[in-house]
Amino acid sequence: MTPLARGADRLSSLLVPAAGVLPSNAEYLRHLEHAAGDAELIRLASNENSRPPAPAVRDALARAYEGANRSPSSRPPLRLALAERFGVAPESVLVGAGSTELIDATLRTFVRAGDEAILPTPSWPVFRRRLAALEASVVEVPLVAGESSYAYDVDALLASVTAGTKLMVLCSPNNPTGNSMSVEEVRRCADTGIALLVDAAYADFHPDVNLSPLVHEYPNVILSRTFSKAYCLAGLRVGYIVGDASVLDYVERFLVPGSSIGTAALDAGLAALADDDYHDRQVERIGAERERLLSGLRALGARAYDSHGNFVAVDASPHPGRADALVGGMLARGILIRAMSDTIVRITVGEPTETDAVLEAFEPLLAAAV
Ligand SMILES: Cc1ncc(COP(=O)(O)O)c(C=O)c1O
Repeated sequence: MTPLARGADRLSSLLVPAAGVLPSNAEYLRHLEHAAGDAELIRLASNENSRPPAPAVRDALARAYEGANRSPSSRPPLRLALAERFGVAPESVLVGAGSTELIDATLRTFVRAGDEAILPTPSWPVFRRRLAALEASVVEVPLVAGESSYAYDVDALLASVTAGTKLMVLCSPNNPTGNSMSVEEVRRCADTGIALLVDAAYADFHPDVNLSPLVHEYPNVILSRTFSKAYCLAGLRVGYIVGDASVLDYVERFLVPGSSIGTAALDAGLAALADDDYHDRQVERIGAERERLLSGLRALGARAYDSHGNFVAVDASPHPGRADALVGGMLARGILIRAMSDTIVRITVGEPTETDAVLEAFEPLLAAAV
């Protein structure tokens, strides 16, 4: 725990217990500082899109200048357009400053200190961090690692539900392991009746599985999506959740009123949503490049896992020093990738030249593996 300033002993005794155990955000986001400090670095650590957004986004951002002095509407056109796309009422959609904000609000709607929340692992570390901030009792359910892919253990997830369980988180396709759940598997989890947060941030990259009909079937399913990946808008912070209107009404109460996404980001999201061709080309391009990265890594002898996202997970356990050392070795070669656990590194799919650079840099590092 970081000591408070001298003379602040009284304050230190007033901190909530979570403050003493929460890991630092600066540490978690250190890769962003690396990237900011070196424009030459190949940035494959954040699952961003390597391309700029659709051209219409540029015009939308220029137009946003005109309305920048006014507060955003609570029923912005983007909310209405998403509602139409999902075949739900506008009240069944909440748009926020990235899906992270809405995921956090959803967790806070259902979970407080001591409550049980089920979290498959490994998954996106932010779930764990936000649940830790709530002092939740996190029940981790491991995914099953096969030779070339990961899978959710749905029986184990269901077996971990108790009378005290408030919420389960599912991430499909899962970050960092890349595997998806089928509609039927998610339905089995939804049948438990507990709050089910389905993070579908990478669903654009796996169009064969559409989990969104579940929001029509189950009031306990809350689906989160983002414009940060396939729509190339990570820097503008645009995300949304879809779910039962009465449930989302509660979730919205956990957002600070009028203080979320701004007008420029809303307009940019609307313009990006309207350009389906641009979106589809990103999905196709990234899917093809992902397979090239995957087969290249495997040809080098790495255990790289099948992925339905815009990233590939690699088993770092044979490497001396494991994930951190592998990330450090890549950084020394000008490539930023991410350690997602002690034994997993994750590489975002970038441009073809970046894939080539990754494969070239990986080869000597793998040769050093035990
Ligand atoms: C699984 C998952 N969910 C949500 C997000 C965050 O999305 P947003 O940028 O919309 O907050 C990420 C970003 O990396 C992610 O990996």
